Amino acid sequence: MIASPRHFLDLWRIEAADLRAILDDAHARKAARAGWPKGRRDADLPARDRTLAMIFEKNSTRTRFSFDAAMRQLGGDVIISNASDMQLGRGEPIDDTARVLSRMVDAIMIRANVHEDVERLAHAATVPVINGLSDKGHPCQILADIQTFEEHRGPIRGRTIAWVGDGNNVCASFIHAAPKLGFKLNIASPAIYHPDLVDLARAAEQQGQVTTTRDPREAVRGADCVITDTWVSMGDTDHDERLDALEPYQVDEVLMDEAAPDAVFLHCLPAHRGEEVTDEVIDGPRSLIWDEAENRIHAQKSILAWCFGAI
Ligand code: CP
Ligand code: NVA
Repeated sequence: MIASPRHFLDLWRIEAADLRAILDDAHARKAARAGWPKGRRDADLPARDRTLAMIFEKNSTRTRFSFDAAMRQLGGDVIISNASDMQLGRGEPIDDTARVLSRMVDAIMIRANVHEDVERLAHAATVPVINGLSDKGHPCQILADIQTFEEHRGPIRGRTIAWVGDGNNVCASFIHAAPKLGFKLNIASPAIYHPDLVDLARAAEQQGQVTTTRDPREAVRGADCVITDTWVSMGDTDHDERLDALEPYQVDEVLMDEAAPDAVFLHCLPAHRGEEVTDEVIDGPRSLIWDEAENRIHAQKSILAWCFGAI
């Protein structure tokens, strides 16, 4: 019997021990190459002789460049395409795309408009599929975020993360991660942009400590980390309504002062300064956003190594 591929689609599906092992590997890989040129390959080359296909239905800077750099550092190669340049963009079924690419590459990363397409791709593929963001989650981002928190503040277990603003795809992956990695998650969002109720119910079933409130100060009080994201994600069409509803959720210095004295600020980027966060916070001493962006490479190398069975 052929073992099913190790897909990386949603954090709630991955064993807690595997997530911890991926994070530990990311910390170790980053430390091992401190000071190295970015193009130098890691000693163990877990992606040697492997090719990753990347499909983009939406724009990307960090995900595109970090997966490409990651595969090179792991000793592998990549093929990158926008979906609009593929037959997929002309209506070829995603299942057929999965079957074809599975004969040509060793893993597939997709950034998709609709999460069900990520699931369909994985269902039909015979190689690992990685979710590089969908409307329902951004799991690779959250591992980079947790790596960033841990390298500055130590283990995430038992700590409190405050999510402020839109209960969106990135927020969803934090909800998925909370029970697995044992951190407390406080979410403040307006009623119409609340987090996914299925995600909240699943986290509760998994004994996750996830709270929701309309009050950003309540969510942030005493938190070790404050996180926000754009108020208008890719694919959102209600721009003006979002800006109106989310205005009370801007992360500014006054809100940050409600958090623990050594609290850090994270944002997956791209940011809209003056909307979800002020310049003073995102460019201030509590912000770790550039380490967070760099850690996309380190975390994803470990995700790839896990998909290839090297972890
Ligand atoms: N944070 C993130 O995923 O960035 P990109 O959209 O640039 O890939
Ligand atoms: N929530 C944002 C994240 C971008 C990396 C979006 O989906 O557009």
